[in-house]
Amino acid sequence: SAELWDSIQKNGVIVIGNSPDYPPYESMDGNTRVGFDIDIMNAMAEKMGIKVEWKTMSFDTIIAAVNMGNVDIGFSGFSVTEDRKKSVDFSTPYFASGQVIVVRPGSSIKSGADLVGKKIGVQLGTTGQEAAEKIENAEVIKPETYSTAFMMLKSEAVDAVVADIPVANEYAQKQGFVIAPEKLSYEENAIVIPKGNPKLVEALNKALAEVEQEGTLAKLVEKWMK
Ligand code: ARG
Repeated sequence: SAELWDSIQKNGVIVIGNSPDYPPYESMDGNTRVGFDIDIMNAMAEKMGIKVEWKTMSFDTIIAAVNMGNVDIGFSGFSVTEDRKKSVDFSTPYFASGQVIVVRPGSSIKSGADLVGKKIGVQLGTTGQEAAEKIENAEVIKPETYSTAFMMLKSEAVDAVVADIPVANEYAQKQGFVIAPEKLSYEENAIVIPKGNPKLVEALNKALAEVEQEGTLAKLVEKWMK
């Protein structure tokens, strides 16, 4: 039956929802979108014989945009969760990550237990928000972007930020923050696909498998995630 993959092939372009505030997954370098996800998708699109069109949107609106057909897929450092699986499908995972706690140097926060009653910054609609909301009595502050959450950490408006490991590493390195030793969760990153599109799922998974098998994915992990 006709589905999204047919029209994507016909148009020769896949339209992708992305929130470029999450280095090294995605960020803006001036007017250029750069990062791990961007390079993976470009390599996949070459295999699929299509062009890529990125649409910038706040992270918390991407799943709705996918379901309304405003974009074809969501590629934005998404973690696979049971809750999201109720409304969308996922590709095979392309990276293993998890949520960690980022603090200012000298902070006494070393674990999830130390976050009890504290102010935690996260991006709205993320698994970081989910992890933070499990902490007892924590005040969870959820701006639209992680850039704002990390600004709040710097200005002491929050005591900690919860984010994916590679992002925590990036901000820690660039802005002099520290990562607490205890991880809050294990998660896998994958592409978000609207339900009812098995051909599109298959086409994306096939391209991803090729990108992995030829060693490109490992090179991109080396380039962006180390
Ligand atoms: N991995 C987390 C999640 O799935 C955060 C992703 C945030 N991505 C972004 N581009 N800001 O919720």
